[in-house]
Amino acid sequence: MEFNIKKICCIGAGYVGGPTMAVIAEKCPEIEINVVDINKEKIDNWNNSDLTKLPVFEPGLKEIIKRTRGINLFFSTEVEKNISKADVIFLSVNTPTKTSGIGAGKALDLKWIEASARQVAKFSKGNTIVVEKSTLPVKTAESIKKILESSHYGENKNEFFVISNPEFLAEGSAISDLLNPDRILIGGDNEEAIDALAGIYSKWVNPKKIIRTNLWSSELSKLTANAFLAQRISSINSISALCEVTGANIREVALAIGMDKRIGDKFLNSGPGFGGSCFQKDILNLVYLCNFYNLKEVAEYWEKVIQINSWQQKRISKIIVEKLFGTLTNKKIGILGFSFKANTNDTRESPAIKICLDLIEEGANISIYDPKVSSNQISNDLDSIMTNKSKDKFGSWQIGLSVSQVSQNADAIVVITEWDEFRNINWKSIAIEMRKPCWVFDCRNIVDKKEAKSNGINVWEIGC
Ligand code: NAD
Ligand code: UDX
Repeated sequence: MEFNIKKICCIGAGYVGGPTMAVIAEKCPEIEINVVDINKEKIDNWNNSDLTKLPVFEPGLKEIIKRTRGINLFFSTEVEKNISKADVIFLSVNTPTKTSGIGAGKALDLKWIEASARQVAKFSKGNTIVVEKSTLPVKTAESIKKILESSHYGENKNEFFVISNPEFLAEGSAISDLLNPDRILIGGDNEEAIDALAGIYSKWVNPKKIIRTNLWSSELSKLTANAFLAQRISSINSISALCEVTGANIREVALAIGMDKRIGDKFLNSGPGFGGSCFQKDILNLVYLCNFYNLKEVAEYWEKVIQINSWQQKRISKIIVEKLFGTLTNKKIGILGFSFKANTNDTRESPAIKICLDLIEEGANISIYDPKVSSNQISNDLDSIMTNKSKDKFGSWQIGLSVSQVSQNADAIVVITEWDEFRNINWKSIAIEMRKPCWVFDCRNIVDKKEAKSNGINVWEIGC
């Protein structure tokens, strides 16, 4: 069967759907792309004429949106209408960890993927390629196919072609990752449908980088890639603790091992533990799948990556308490950075959330500044984690509007996110504002240690 792709519908206008479709729209002006979502506020923000109000902050995104929106890229809540027009449908909905029922705390919650597959089954017309863009457990395509095939009755003779095409972009560098991907992975069992999708990417990606596999390899490769990346972070973080007690320096160790081509120098920055919406949930899912297939040892191996990550976050909170004479009661602590990494406004699973909670529980009054995370978001994150505890026993938190504001009368500053702004702090003026003795806890190794120390600030750096 030959496919002539004129219209794409992407279900889910989130961190993946929005940027990915913006790049496809830019590179394929002949294709009309409709990104749909059930969240009206999000769609309104995607359509906002003030481009600083887009729901996703990514360097380079607003420029692409400016060039494509209203031309061949459209954001809307009209899910059914846009499904019915589309030749290709991307499923790009959220797949978080299940919070209740079988597999709670480990398995992925597939209710959004199932709901969107059912909508596709009901409203699509003609032969349709259905692309799994969300990260899914291996074998999910089987369920999606069953749901889609259930619509083959009466007059409806649609044929569906399910393809796995996981997304490997990282937040903060989404646009450059999408423009220059290391690879595009397409898994499926219909050659023509795979060719049609590969045809879209080949408009800007070298065909040698477009890998074709079977469905299950593609689905499993995505979980495996995230597990390997997260494992690297836990490995370097575990060694950071050993550096601190032995006099070794984690940056020097990372440099030394990273120059071995077999290891490579990327993804070796020790930090406050990995955050983000993907690593933890995807490893938990891998663990769940391994247990499901009776591979207990494999499950335990990957589970350890998450345990080290939680341990690293707790370890930092403990060090802060210890250095501040064992008590944080009535002490002011400035928090620099709340997003899970620099260059994104996303706070999902950010180490900042847990570290802030630990400090508040110790009685600290914390003041948080992040250049891109909204105060509403910080408030939602902290309120949701504190609800079951008696808030009056704890310290407090507030939003600060600048580095200088959170430093005023602070006993300590904790650098949690590696925003560029925090690399160039004028420690001389900050030192004047802090209460002595004062500390900087640098969880990202970005503080100018010499300058901070020369202005009378005690400095603790991760892995040193
Ligand atoms: P997100 O929460 O930012 O966006 C998902 C969107 O889907 C939400 O806006 C939600 O309202 C919408 N949605 C859910 N059900 C819907 C339905 N039935 N109809 C219409 N809209 C619906 O999630 P995300 O970060 O974009 O992630 C999406 C998927 O991509 C996940 O599976 C994730 O694991 C994967 N992924 C994420 C990243 C990342 O960096 N965020 C990278 C690679 C892969
Ligand atoms: C990750 C994967 O990199 C991406 O391929 C996948 O599609 C989605 O999940 P993301 O979570 O957006 O992307 O960002 P990433 O750059 O991987 O960082 C994840 C976490 O690890 C962040 O909290 C980051 O600060 C931390 N990290 C990363 C480190 O602590 N050190 C490093 O060297 C790299």
